[in-house]
Amino acid sequence: MSAPVHIAIVMDGNGRWARARGLARTEGHKAAETSIHEAVSWCGENGVGFLTLFAFSTENWSRPAAEVTLIMSLLRSFISRNLPELQRKNVRIRATGRIEALPAKALADLRGAVEATQGNTGLQLILALNYGGRAELADAARRIAAEAVSGSLDPASVDEAAVAARLYLPDVPDPDLVIRTSGEKRISNFLLWQSAYSEFHFPEVLWPDFRKEHLDEALKVFSSRRRRFGGLG
Ligand code: FPP
Repeated sequence: MSAPVHIAIVMDGNGRWARARGLARTEGHKAAETSIHEAVSWCGENGVGFLTLFAFSTENWSRPAAEVTLIMSLLRSFISRNLPELQRKNVRIRATGRIEALPAKALADLRGAVEATQGNTGLQLILALNYGGRAELADAARRIAAEAVSGSLDPASVDEAAVAARLYLPDVPDPDLVIRTSGEKRISNFLLWQSAYSEFHFPEVLWPDFRKEHLDEALKVFSSRRRRFGGLG
């Protein structure tokens, strides 16, 4: 069974997981770290090249300030706790999104981790932070417009490859499989361009309960699909 090259995950259900236990929503985000650890480790064991995790969307700023602060501090503690092991596992950490708008300390830690692991050649762990698919496309459009105005780009030459080349991580292949946990069946502004031909999988499990067995199941589902990319297969 061949594994997908790129798996992208919307880590949904943290709040519901906490509520079901009579805990504050933030406890669900805290519990998410174990699931992230499992997913990274499974991807390493199964030869997956890229794992993108939707950690914070451009819309998540509208959550209560305390929840936003907690998520940012979880990002920082995730990095400090896991960086040595990720280095050992040859994992390269990358980020996608309008990361320059993140709080200064979170941004500094993130940039530090990206820099420290940039020579690693194993799994690429891509954290989507202050990420929105529409924002990414708007940013690409703005760059194209600026290049056209400056004369370095002929508007008539703008094609799909020109847009793709101006996305945040143009060298990363499109996700083969997009997973959203918690039974919600929405894309929620995640990788809009890149998921044009992705397979989707929506397990009921809430993200804090997500374990390797759920990725085994996702792989089974993925392997049973016939990808046709608009053709006849
Ligand atoms: C969705 O669940 C989850 C989020 C919006 C935040 C995800 C953040 C983390 C897992 C932690 C920080 C990231 C890293 C890289 C350590 P929800 O809160 O919308 O759940 P609900 O739909 O049940 O309310």
